[in-house]
Amino acid sequence: MHDVTLFDPVKLGALLLSNRVVMPPLTRSRALPDGRPGPSARLYYAQRASAGLIVSEGTAISPEGVGNPDIPGLWNDKQVQAWKPVTDAVHNEGGAIVAQLWHTGRASHPTLQPEGKTPVGPSAIAISGLTFARDGRVPYVIPRPLETEEIPAIVHQYAQAAANARTAGFDGVELHAANGYLIDQFLQDSSNQRADRYGGSIENRARLLLEVVDAITNVVGAERVGVRLSPSSTFQDMADSDPTTLFSYVLDALASRALAYLHLVEPGIVGDDTVTGRRPADDIDSKWVRKNYAGRIIATGGYDRERALRAVTSGTVDAVAFGRAFIANPDLPVRLITKSPLNEAHRDTFYGGDDHGYLDYPSLAAERLLADLTEGRTEPEQGLQLNAQTPLEKWQLAWAQQQLITRA
Ligand SMILES: Cc1cc2nc3c(=O)[nH]c(=O)nc-3n(C[C@H](O)[C@H](O)[C@H](O)COP(=O)(O)O)c2cc1C
Repeated sequence: MHDVTLFDPVKLGALLLSNRVVMPPLTRSRALPDGRPGPSARLYYAQRASAGLIVSEGTAISPEGVGNPDIPGLWNDKQVQAWKPVTDAVHNEGGAIVAQLWHTGRASHPTLQPEGKTPVGPSAIAISGLTFARDGRVPYVIPRPLETEEIPAIVHQYAQAAANARTAGFDGVELHAANGYLIDQFLQDSSNQRADRYGGSIENRARLLLEVVDAITNVVGAERVGVRLSPSSTFQDMADSDPTTLFSYVLDALASRALAYLHLVEPGIVGDDTVTGRRPADDIDSKWVRKNYAGRIIATGGYDRERALRAVTSGTVDAVAFGRAFIANPDLPVRLITKSPLNEAHRDTFYGGDDHGYLDYPSLAAERLLADLTEGRTEPEQGLQLNAQTPLEKWQLAWAQQQLITRA
């Protein structure tokens, strides 16, 4: 027997991870206007296939679920067909990938909704501040509260998107119940003031989450379903009057369903960034979840190599996801194994734009090829360019050649 490390395999339900370094969901806003993943998504994900598991960027379950510009979807066949080359490429590289299922609820904006409609939510309470919509930064709007009778159709859309994800070749799905999106909006009482069976008591506020979990589990099997929660995050005005009671209940209910994994966003993260100072629900970290949840745990948020090794070796979590580090380091597992330096992530290319900041973060192998080219140990290949069409086995040479040109 040896201590488990970050680099050992693990089984999360039916998902077989070759290591415990996970790529979490990362919206990159480079999808096509009709919700198909963009042409460069295949290479972007394949570059990162050495992750034990990739969770796709948030992927809308319906046109009404869209809440950011240029995000992909999984509600129609064209989108399913467009995802297939992505999942195939990841599998050919020996990786595993699940789709993150997303409905943004009140976090959306009329400019992102079909026919400019008002986005839906649990109650008529707007998020304060500004959101990034079609025409830049605009105030969030007051959502239209969903009628009780409308909710089964949304549950069905989640189930259909889960079925579509499997048809598209995903190994499973992760339900986005974090970061102040629709399911989180129902869970927490600052955004849910409903008087029907989806509001009021904790059981009622958790009803949408559990109905959706049961619906997608029916379609793909519990062993291929993960759920993402961010109990401590105050992103998009999230707050609850009694978070430990709420999330104890939620964790018990999820544990009884024997899911593949629970994906926890650690305290200290608000959306896509690290924050300082204490927040009211900061006690709900991975140690707390381990004590209160009987199942596999992936944790994300502010991890570096040492903290991740400790978290896995101590048994606090089963796997660790690295968000910003995976954007900037396509070969993150090998960099962590070999204690190599990490590239820094550049926020200005996180959302939207072209392949810059998307396809052109180098692997260690790409950096070695650059040195070989510079010192004449490798010959450049005529006409080779780094773009959506670059064959996977050539991208590192293409990157090195591009560097030689831009540095010249
Ligand atoms: C550019 C960017 C996009 C993100 N998109 C999503 C998303 O689509 N769904 C989600 O649940 N979290 C999303 N997140 C949050 C990350 O999954 C992760 O929780 C966060 O970056 C903290 O991890 P880190 O400290 O390792 O970066 C995003 C973060 C970043 C930086």
